[in-house]
Amino acid sequence: MSRLVVVSNRVADPRKAAAAGGLAVALGDALSVRGGLWFGWSGTVVEGGTPGEGEMHSQQAGNVTLTTVDLCREDHDSYYLGYSNGVLWPVFHYRLDLADFDAGFIGGYRRVNQMLAHKLMPQLLPDDIIWVHDYHLIPMAAELRAMGCKNRIGFFLHIPLPPPLILAAIPQHEWLVRALFSYDVVGFQSEADVAHFSRYVGQEVGAEALDQHQFRAFGRTVHAQAFPIGIDVDEFAALTHGKEARDMFESMKEEYSRRRLLLGVERLDYSKGLPQRLRTFQKLLQKYPENLNSATLIQIASPSREALDTYSGLRQELESLCGSINGDFGELDWMPVRYIHRNVARKRLPGLYRVARVALVTPLRDGMNLVAKEFIAAQDPADPGVLVLSRFAGAAEQLKEALLVNPYDTDGTADSIQRALQMPLPERQARHQKLLASIRSQDVHWWRKTFLDALTGVDTSDHRR
Ligand code: G6P
Repeated sequence: MSRLVVVSNRVADPRKAAAAGGLAVALGDALSVRGGLWFGWSGTVVEGGTPGEGEMHSQQAGNVTLTTVDLCREDHDSYYLGYSNGVLWPVFHYRLDLADFDAGFIGGYRRVNQMLAHKLMPQLLPDDIIWVHDYHLIPMAAELRAMGCKNRIGFFLHIPLPPPLILAAIPQHEWLVRALFSYDVVGFQSEADVAHFSRYVGQEVGAEALDQHQFRAFGRTVHAQAFPIGIDVDEFAALTHGKEARDMFESMKEEYSRRRLLLGVERLDYSKGLPQRLRTFQKLLQKYPENLNSATLIQIASPSREALDTYSGLRQELESLCGSINGDFGELDWMPVRYIHRNVARKRLPGLYRVARVALVTPLRDGMNLVAKEFIAAQDPADPGVLVLSRFAGAAEQLKEALLVNPYDTDGTADSIQRALQMPLPERQARHQKLLASIRSQDVHWWRKTFLDALTGVDTSDHRR
């Protein structure tokens, strides 16, 4: 079997992957099975270094080599903060209003992709299969091809792809899409994303659709398909029975047998719809007063990308909303919102998921959302909690038995949460059973295998000439 080379902005040590999260588990596992290389940024920013240069570090983790590269301050600020998270992230999440189209960012984005490609190229073997991840690295294959790389290269976009006229607001939109045609396979999270890709390439670059998945433009053919990412259900179920999760469950279960716990867990990001969620919770308390002194929202919002103003502004907005809800509705012995702006260890989370009566996964836009799937995996099938899920999360295409909501509709979402809180046991069980079957049938192993099968199966003659 040929070696697998994974390229992503962040690299995790597969030996510590359980702490890092589901994707690290999945990719670490794929690498360990085949043997291979995981390549990306080291996470280190060097003050005052030279743009386009970065020290490379390698270490061995079993049969997986981890190779990472430092970034100098200027490269980090233009490639990671500027173009990746100041342009691509907001636009791909439909937030043109939050994008900062500073003309200086694109230079850093190209430079870092070029530097990483130059450092990766000498490490490649002729039959390595290369799998590039996410929006930070869209031009990676084009850079490798320019150096003569003829390997099979696949790309997976973990975030949504917006409709053509939103994508077209990015000054370099055509360059970005042309770069996707240097890959053999381009994977998206949902059918909606594939439809946007198909419409974009048809309308903007006159691509020809050869069949459902094959698109031809710029003299190349690319295979584009939805591969909805999943979780390792058994790994997560095992965490649920681990000591950390059980301790968490035990410490919370008494209070929440009297009160009802609503739970939200995410990075503090504007795509997650957190202010809307808090206003919806406020509406729930006003409209259905039986929840006073009872329904409690634990909102974990872990710190993320704090150097960007869009993120620090959101933090202030949330803190003020939590303060006003607690001030208006709280009692001496009950606070409606418990807001935590810290990371909570992944091993403890399943315990919390199991105590919760309702999970609120209500992003305004999300590529997939794995918290929704982890919440399902952690439930006790005999007495499961209810998932309230935004129709704008990629996961909504699969998790049809959740209570699907429009997070912009405060009243309607509050009604759905009330329905979740009152849902009779047989209905909760029936819904959970179907949701569990869904996350089991398209789990992370299925995702990885389907993607890699597509990548090893496609005709790559375009890139071998
Ligand atoms: C999303 C992206 C990932 C990213 C993660 C954390 O899930 O799709 O590529 O790694 O957010 O964000 P960060 O900026 O901290 O890497």
